Amino acid sequence: MCGIVGYVGSRPVTPILLDGLGKLEYRGYDSAGVAVWNGDRIEVEKAKGRLSVLRENTCGGVHPVGCIGIGHTRWATHGKPSDINSHPQTSGTGRTAVVHNGIIENYYELRQYLISQGVQFVSDTDTEVVAQLFEYYYNGDLLATATRVVGVLEGSYALGILNADHPDTMVALRRDAPLLVGVGEGENFIASDVAAILKYTRDVYYIDDKEIALVRKQGVEVYDQYGRKVDKELRHVDWDVQAAEKGGYEHFFLKEIMEQPEAVRATISPRIKNGRVELEIPLSDEDIRKFDKIYIAACGSAYYVGVAAGYLLEELLRVPTTVQLASEFRYQNPIVDEKTLVIIISQSGETADSRAALREAKSRGATTLAVVNVVGSSIAREADMSLYTWAGPEISVATTKAYSTQLAALYLLAIKMADARRSITDERYAELVRAVEALPTLIERALGIKEQVQQLAAKWFSAEHVFFIGRNTDYAVTLEGALKLKELSYTMSEAYAGGELKHGPISLIEDGTPVMAVMTGARLFDKTLSNVKEVLARGASIAAIVGESARDISTEADCILRVPDCEPLFSASLSVIPLQFLAYYIASLKGCDIDKPRNLAKSVTVE
Ligand code: G6P
Repeated sequence: MCGIVGYVGSRPVTPILLDGLGKLEYRGYDSAGVAVWNGDRIEVEKAKGRLSVLRENTCGGVHPVGCIGIGHTRWATHGKPSDINSHPQTSGTGRTAVVHNGIIENYYELRQYLISQGVQFVSDTDTEVVAQLFEYYYNGDLLATATRVVGVLEGSYALGILNADHPDTMVALRRDAPLLVGVGEGENFIASDVAAILKYTRDVYYIDDKEIALVRKQGVEVYDQYGRKVDKELRHVDWDVQAAEKGGYEHFFLKEIMEQPEAVRATISPRIKNGRVELEIPLSDEDIRKFDKIYIAACGSAYYVGVAAGYLLEELLRVPTTVQLASEFRYQNPIVDEKTLVIIISQSGETADSRAALREAKSRGATTLAVVNVVGSSIAREADMSLYTWAGPEISVATTKAYSTQLAALYLLAIKMADARRSITDERYAELVRAVEALPTLIERALGIKEQVQQLAAKWFSAEHVFFIGRNTDYAVTLEGALKLKELSYTMSEAYAGGELKHGPISLIEDGTPVMAVMTGARLFDKTLSNVKEVLARGASIAAIVGESARDISTEADCILRVPDCEPLFSASLSVIPLQFLAYYIASLKGCDIDKPRNLAKSVTVE
């Protein structure tokens, strides 16, 4: 998705903008640009394509020359990727320049109105409407103009604005799209993602919806939508800069796979004290006992974490648990009330549909709990309580360590809730705590499967489609495995619950069709094995992920991938590892852009 970075200070701005945009590349984009006050006018450089094109056009950041500017990476929504549609967009006079993340939903009406007033448009973007509108309303006062603009824009936006009459000020405003102000010494920043400015400062103000920030070299002022001054709390971000660098790995995706033991340890360890799960969320045992229903809503891999957690919560709590895609939940008139716990899972904390689902749940009186990675993100701030996953920055568009830490956080939550409801015995509680504590070490051992999966990838990489089957938690993990393979290697891949095979998908199995069976659960091992035999009889080439103590199935499977045995309810944490490697190695062999797959974005902040 789009990225914003802006700077005001004493240093040459263009290299800082290019550097910041480089840190946002991982989010996915199709064009990039900068606007800089060059002492005389606002100079814009922008181009379709990778940041390297912009770097070339600006001679590596030598020009435009100035000490205040805004930059953008665009992921097209309104208007195809092109030089003209790239941001910054300017007003007709060129005296106002705007970068924008999000979608202006009433752009068409505004555009028609401005055209009727004689304004001429050059791009197809909704963003140009903001630049033209700002100029149209401009009355010499930046704040007054910004409040007027906020009053009429509908939709989602994070905006960075420069105006030639005020060459010392960046205007930043937002609604439903992330934006923060970075505070330095004698210099200040704006960014849609803290990764863009982490190198320069860790002190930030998170701008809230409909707030307007005036950012100057000497300081930052924040106002509400009516122009009243707001006191903001300066927050310190303690993410490690190194964590956002590749550190010798060829790809962030591989680096982040290998970081999983540590990330999961960071999520689990501080929350187990003397054999007890202690979570920092304000959820009393009494609150927990009140719930008669749980909903989980999320998107993408976070939704698949939800599918695994759904099995776990129902099993341990005996409370009806529904797992729903956030994009469906928000429009389905969900049966949610004061006795419902709604869990929103999101790495970024900014996914538009997940955020809307959260609001929907809140409006119906539910207790909302967010499982989030990015501290200070919109979902984290809006939910009644947040359980952070402490995975550190995840740069690869396709998730690995965020997925694993989300699972771990939900295991802890489920154990705590089951204990509060007395739906498990003390012995089972102690057993589950030990099982969760063992996970980081087991994940570390599971990583040892890398080379074996690499060999499998060499056999399967030219396959047109790959099937994944499993049951219960094993099924949940196949959903993630199939998604990873699609995302990274553009291979058609589908996950089916083992029992569903005969209801259609088996008709697609022919000689050599690759089928990955995940069968770590002892209880349903034989059931899935029957499904394996059914596809084997139709010529499928089988690989199976099993527990290390599972019996030999070499007559059925060509490739047996053994992962450490663990508590069956937590098995997704281990069986996902070979699936991540499979996607990685198949994508490598196919020469795909692993960290930034085509058309995908890290954080989907528009609906
Ligand atoms: C995108 C990412 C996925 C992620 C999903 C939900 O599709 O590529 O990796 O699972 O968004 O994002 P969230 O930030 O809400 O977890």
